[in-house]
Amino acid sequence: MTGRKRSLSGIRVTGRFHIGNYLGAGVNYVRLQDDYESYIFVADYHTLTTKPNAREFTDDLYEMVMDLIAIGVDPDRTVIYRQSSIPMVAELTLLLAMVTPLSWVQRVPTFKDKVREQPDNVNLGLFEYPVLQSADIIIVKGDVVPVGRDQAPHLELTREITRRFNRIYRPVFPEPQIVLNPEAPIIKGTDGKTKMSKSLNNIIGVTDAPEVIRKQVMSMVTDTKRIYKTQPGHPRTCNVCAFYKLFFDDWEHYWDLCRKAQIGCQDKKKLLAERIIERFAPFRERRAGLTRERIDAVLKAGAERAQDVAGHTMVEVRDAIGLPPYSRA
Ligand code: TRP
Repeated sequence: MTGRKRSLSGIRVTGRFHIGNYLGAGVNYVRLQDDYESYIFVADYHTLTTKPNAREFTDDLYEMVMDLIAIGVDPDRTVIYRQSSIPMVAELTLLLAMVTPLSWVQRVPTFKDKVREQPDNVNLGLFEYPVLQSADIIIVKGDVVPVGRDQAPHLELTREITRRFNRIYRPVFPEPQIVLNPEAPIIKGTDGKTKMSKSLNNIIGVTDAPEVIRKQVMSMVTDTKRIYKTQPGHPRTCNVCAFYKLFFDDWEHYWDLCRKAQIGCQDKKKLLAERIIERFAPFRERRAGLTRERIDAVLKAGAERAQDVAGHTMVEVRDAIGLPPYSRA
């Protein structure tokens, strides 16, 4: 091992990588691999909490790994794997559950959200979700965890569980730190209502074909108070203008034109679409060169590395708890 600190993150299988994923956490996946020993996995166990048949999301899983590589996650510098390739993480989840007070998990807001979203499938896995996430992180002894802001409650819980484990047994794990992107945008999906989410069909994918990006951008909800282009716009409350802040160095110039009614919403969207297409061209190119065979090879190599690390951790964990080692079970 290299002695460098470790970075780890996971992503649920939702489909293509979109601008929200990229600016929220993706940028940091790429940045951190320079200085950290990096791990990124596709959280297929977690995905089962909402989609019980893994075969139905396998294609999406491959798409996501391709997108990860496309945005610059380099399989030579980041260990990329499928969560379920490390079944030991399930054992660690069970062991962590024994030292996790029920009340801590009951507080987690994402569980309440899911109950609202899928009242017909309120399974125990949803409840245990953040404990599994804690196991993911500490099984590789992650020091830093690049994620989007929505994951803060999970990371807080992970830290609490880690402290408790270390106190009850012995200090086996580092306390992982959340890493957010300070420039993480306050942009919303194309509907202008909520953050980007595949299920709301309001995303702009980072490796989408130019015509798809154009279509998505042109469908964006703009300044609802501006009906005619002769009326002055309100850039502060317009989602398209929020995108300008991220994609144009001279965004202030465009905000100004908008305020003075010298540019219309349609024209603003057209310019924005072309800018997004240009900015993500390198991602599309890298992505075009990837095959399923290549992804299989990446995931296989990643699984071996991650199993190795997780195996070492579990030897320590079982010993700390006082359980016999695997070999003499
Ligand atoms: N819960 C994360 C999400 O929804 C995915 C995830 C699972 C994760 N395990 C993780 C993120 C471990 C960071 C570390 O996006």
